[in-house]
Amino acid sequence: MSGAPSTVLIVGAGGREHALAWRLARSPRVGHLILAPGNVGMPREWERWETGLSRKEEFAALAERAREAGVSLAVIGPDNPLAEGIVDVFTEADLPTVGPTAAAARIEASKAFAKEVMLAAGVPTARHFIAKSREEALGILRALDWSRGGWVLKSDGLALGKGVCVCGTLAEATGALEGLPGGEFVIEERLFGEELSWMAFCDGERCALLEPARDHKRLLDGDHGPNTGGMGAFSPVPGVPASWAERMRREVFLPTLRELARRGAPFRGVLYAGLMVDFARDRFWVLEFNARFGDPEAQVLLPRIEERPMLGILEWFEAVARGDLSGLPDSVPFERAAALAVVAAAAGYPEAPLKGARIAGLHGSERATGGSEGIFCAGVGGLGEAPIVNGGRVLAAFGRGADLAQARERAYARLAKIRFEGMQYRKDIGGGAP
Ligand code: AMP
Ligand code: GLY
Repeated sequence: MSGAPSTVLIVGAGGREHALAWRLARSPRVGHLILAPGNVGMPREWERWETGLSRKEEFAALAERAREAGVSLAVIGPDNPLAEGIVDVFTEADLPTVGPTAAAARIEASKAFAKEVMLAAGVPTARHFIAKSREEALGILRALDWSRGGWVLKSDGLALGKGVCVCGTLAEATGALEGLPGGEFVIEERLFGEELSWMAFCDGERCALLEPARDHKRLLDGDHGPNTGGMGAFSPVPGVPASWAERMRREVFLPTLRELARRGAPFRGVLYAGLMVDFARDRFWVLEFNARFGDPEAQVLLPRIEERPMLGILEWFEAVARGDLSGLPDSVPFERAAALAVVAAAAGYPEAPLKGARIAGLHGSERATGGSEGIFCAGVGGLGEAPIVNGGRVLAAFGRGADLAQARERAYARLAKIRFEGMQYRKDIGGGAP
């Protein structure tokens, strides 16, 4: 570990990246932060580089600029650039990078591939069928037994949460099939229970588990309305048995890492297991893998990761980028404090978010969560002094407290000072507003 202050590049534009930068800023060894591209709601002392994140040429240009700027570590936030191979390009340019190669990111980018890996690795997951065309999907759907709870229809590729339909009846499923993107589908048994997001830092072979978080994916209170990218999250999650961390490691993360390595695609980065859990029956199933931090989960997990001397967030990320977690604990130490984030979304989100509304109550360049509450900015545009809505999920109000109730109270208190036309938010994140 060198003594010189590090310059860290964070790729992405949303609340997850705001949380990553905010958390890295607490590391005594981080001297400078660069966001590519970040958003205008972020503190001004962080440098921002305008860039697109969809093409190889953009990745190469970013890598070159990063090398010139003396970047010693890059952290990739979003799924798309990972799937498109940004880590392959950065690695080629000798930039230590947190994130999987395109080959390993397929665990998120292709649901069919993820199922194949899970099956081979013996990871508990729902029974499924693969359809290579709409016709084949239709044939499978018609042959299924619809009397026992239903089936879930999923587009194979990345679809921003819009590629999944949980269907109770055949009619519903055939209707949904028309509207789903892509030409390949996974059809799987519908599971019942509670959802849980569990992430781990991985070096291709070993893993260090984070604590779990819970995301609220539906738009409306009481888990009604359409699926979204996530309307709020909290951590810790009450009710998770202490024995489950070890079971996650043995039954989910390690076998998955082994199987990916066996296929020549070792996974270095943050592996995210989206789980359905049944605490009463002491069972869990993996619904999906993501190849990155969840958002908004990152906003409640990163603030709880302990900053210990020689073992803070930077040291964890450096070990992941190096591909060597040996010698580090097999669980990431967390603070006991609870954290909760409530997302404020634009009018029309998720179908057709309206941009342009003025945002009141956002202090220019807010230093989120320096204390017990703050804001993580995502779809914030305009000038710093006159911020406007510029995306579906606009920002998240964050609260930290001795327990969940206090964290919730603080998050909602901070949110109460934010106003914009058509603002949508859930009042029941973490079990209901105070
Ligand atoms: P996925 O992108 O695969 O995680 O699916 C998105 C959402 O659909 C999940 O967060 C669940 O709410 C729901 N879902 C996916 N698979 C299933 C399943 N097998 N049973 C019940 N709900 C599911
Ligand atoms: N919050 C879910 C995700 O990031 O995929």
